[in-house]
Amino acid sequence: MKRLAVLISGTGSIMEAIHKSGIEIGAVIADRHCSGLALAKACGIWNRYQILRKNFMHPSGGFNRHAFTGEFKKVLDEEEIDIVMMAGFMTVLNERIFSQYANRIINTHPSLLPSFKGDTAVADALEYGVKVTGCTMHYATSVLDEGPIIDQRAVPVLSGDDIQSLHERIKVEERKMVPENLKRLMAA
Ligand code: GRF
Repeated sequence: MKRLAVLISGTGSIMEAIHKSGIEIGAVIADRHCSGLALAKACGIWNRYQILRKNFMHPSGGFNRHAFTGEFKKVLDEEEIDIVMMAGFMTVLNERIFSQYANRIINTHPSLLPSFKGDTAVADALEYGVKVTGCTMHYATSVLDEGPIIDQRAVPVLSGDDIQSLHERIKVEERKMVPENLKRLMAA
């Protein structure tokens, strides 16, 4: 069985769904202080790391993506990780990691890509007025929310939806889609 790392920035509910599906999570890495790390502890995931994005910001406002990515690479190598799942991870990593871990870094995004890329995907779908949106699991690249699609699930937009209600309906699907596909990919 391959060894999985999950990258998070938020509440970690997709990570929890992966754990609950019976997939063993070898390591969790967060790029900021987030409640997902406490959840990882509650799930009994021993190897938890924080590589704080804010420590790689220049006073001038620039972000040292190369050095930040290098720290991730170190952990992934030390933990002998085969597959990386970005589950609500809010930083784009430097392109060199995508050649080092070619086709082994996966992302989940709360829209039907290529529509509504970026971190306001749910709000943008709502604002546009689409009647169907959803989620996409795809191989990640250094370009935000681009890369070969692994799976997609459609989710209806209901009248009266706000960002939170729509995002939660999408996450219900992500919590099924991600573990189902990971099981297959990890066994391959
Ligand atoms: C998911 O909708 C993911 O696609 C997006 O952030 C959300 C993560 O949710 N990028 P959680 O932190 O796993 O609850």
